[in-house]
Amino acid sequence: MNVLVTGGAGYIGSHATARLLRDGHHVLIVDNLHQGHTQAVDALRSLAPERVSFVRADINQTDTISCAMRDAGIEAVMHFGALALVGESVEHPLDYYKANVSGTASLLGACESVGVSRFVFSSSCSVYGQPPESMIPVPETCPFAPMSPYARTKHMGEQLLADFAAARRRAGHEFGFIALRYFNVCGCDPDGRLGEDHTPETHLVPNVINAALGRTPHVAIFGTDYPTPDGTCIRDYVHVSDLADAHARALNVLTPATSEAFNVGIGKGSSVREIIDAVRDVSGKSFKVVEHPRRPGDPPKLWADPSKITSVLGWKARHTELRETVATAFSWFEKHPKGYAS
Ligand code: UFG
Repeated sequence: MNVLVTGGAGYIGSHATARLLRDGHHVLIVDNLHQGHTQAVDALRSLAPERVSFVRADINQTDTISCAMRDAGIEAVMHFGALALVGESVEHPLDYYKANVSGTASLLGACESVGVSRFVFSSSCSVYGQPPESMIPVPETCPFAPMSPYARTKHMGEQLLADFAAARRRAGHEFGFIALRYFNVCGCDPDGRLGEDHTPETHLVPNVINAALGRTPHVAIFGTDYPTPDGTCIRDYVHVSDLADAHARALNVLTPATSEAFNVGIGKGSSVREIIDAVRDVSGKSFKVVEHPRRPGDPPKLWADPSKITSVLGWKARHTELRETVATAFSWFEKHPKGYAS
């Protein structure tokens, strides 16, 4: 199949592209290189030189994207291109609504003009906010309660898709979509070609690894007084390769009549302190940990009930051991002190 991957030069998009290439698909990457890396595109090209093409464009450039889609004979879209930092979204909400909501609307406009009727959307567990205790692990039926502009843009993205699909069907066309609600994505492709390289880096696993490698003076724990067994926040850490597998499976079942959302998490929570312990074990290094006050907007506990994606798509996380997942990230960061630039 010919697949458009927006954000394919970024962390998750590049890992998903690698999986698509391994499955024999042709991929057109569209990325504005805001967080993406040309080196990631080069690494993907080295996997399948004739099956990767790249256009540097913003998803709000509807005409450019429509032309590129038409030229490449695109049959399906995987839409990763987005801004994805909760804190930044609070400071710069307009950037988030423009990139994530108008950007998605623009891309759907391109799908409409080209006649593409299969769409996989990167959503987020943040659409649930802090679910009530009775809804942890979180099922897809949990009420939406997004707590940040970022989370609201992802919720709106899902609503946009549903409204667009309904309108297309009413007009006698077809449009199917699957929204994948990611939990906390981490780890790197074990073959070492692709990795995680964000500026700024705000995520826990890279931050702890950078402290272990002596690249930062310490790692901060944001909040040690949460109502959890060790007082720190609990999250569901899903390996990026397992997430790529969820996308591959979504693409396989997607028909122009599909309207579905699935959680993608391993179904097990780990605390901030458990992540720090795992990095300590994997790296064999000791490093300084500084306890900070809570970071605004962090839900205390969030882990997935992945039973729907298991029963419908046959997806099951392969990386369920925290140390093994952390080790794949550690290996990338150790070998790439300056990210893709090294
Ligand atoms: N944390 C620290 N120290 C750090 C970084 C993070 O203690 O240096 C803590 C956070 O406070 C949080 C946990 O580690 O409790 C995980 O934080 P991340 O920033 O790694 O991830 P988030 O859970 O905030 O965010 C992730 C994705 C978002 C997504 C969100 C859904 O980055 O895109 O999950 O909850 F929306």
